[in-house]
Amino acid sequence: MVTRKRILSGMRPTGKLHLGNLQGALKNWIYLQGQQKYECYYFVADWHALTSDYSDTGDIQGNRVDMVIDWLSAGLDPEKSTLFVQSSIKEHAELFVILSMITPLAWLERNPTYKEMKTELSGKDLSTFGFLGYPVLQAADIIMYKASGVPVGVDQLPHVELTREIARRFNFLYREIFPIPDPLLTDFPKLLGIDGRKMSKSYENSIYISDRGKILKDKVAAMFTDPQRMRRKDPGRPEICNVYTFHQIYSPGEDVDRIRVECSRAGIGCTDCKRQLSARIAEAMSPVHDRRDYYLHHPDEVRAIIENGNARAARIARLTMEEVREAVRV
Ligand code: TRP
Ligand code: SF4
Repeated sequence: MVTRKRILSGMRPTGKLHLGNLQGALKNWIYLQGQQKYECYYFVADWHALTSDYSDTGDIQGNRVDMVIDWLSAGLDPEKSTLFVQSSIKEHAELFVILSMITPLAWLERNPTYKEMKTELSGKDLSTFGFLGYPVLQAADIIMYKASGVPVGVDQLPHVELTREIARRFNFLYREIFPIPDPLLTDFPKLLGIDGRKMSKSYENSIYISDRGKILKDKVAAMFTDPQRMRRKDPGRPEICNVYTFHQIYSPGEDVDRIRVECSRAGIGCTDCKRQLSARIAEAMSPVHDRRDYYLHHPDEVRAIIENGNARAARIARLTMEEVREAVRV
């Protein structure tokens, strides 16, 4: 029997997923689940959501299920991928405790994501032990399943790097239990929000996976374009226009070429260009919305998918922790 390589990744349930999440992370997850050589585990990192939302936890439970519905709508297939919830597998907490004993403070303090998040989320007090230890919990998530690949965006690279160091240190101190995981990067053009900044829920500039009809049309119509193209007769610069980046993802090649040429010689107006784009997005998202309608009307099925995934994850976590306890002798 050939053993398949294990892939693992997670997301924090902080709200609805947007097209940036879909193109950046989910598309890669879906691609990987289609490869015969991988066994995929994807989980809801609800304890990680607690690191920044500890004072306002009201949304986490609902977001947990909504996120799985977004995943299923996007095309994650529970027959192929194991979908589970971090806090249902208590072994993550146990491994986190053990790893926290062997992780030097300096590794955490110099983590660039830590410094960046602290400044970015300056409205919240993130001077907590849990927030500093965020990557240790993430390391526990990853090595628990002896994952060999972790599909993430570049922003998560420092965390995967720390995971590798922590796994090496464990192997060195106790016993060679854990493979050293590799990050699997997605290389998609970055989708900006409708205001031209990074697409992010907190900026209220996102196009959500669930947006359709008039909402979708209005958001696309509101998108920033080439700021120098003030009038219809001014030629535009598609290469710096976010609408054009979207066309590159959602429109067929001939259309993309035509829009580039026409925009550059003022042969097409932005209103028209956007109208074409929102039609393309609506078309591309139509199977996603169909699946969404289905799962919204079958909450029991969603619950069963999560319970099933939890059971599968728990089996592996139990085995890993038996090895860990024996190696650490606790
Ligand atoms: N830190 C990740 C994020 O914010 C979420 C996450 C938690 C994760 N544990 C993980 C990702 C393990 C990959 C593997 O997106
Ligand atoms: Fe952007 Fe399209 Fe307007 Fe050109 S025509 S600036 S690509 S929206």
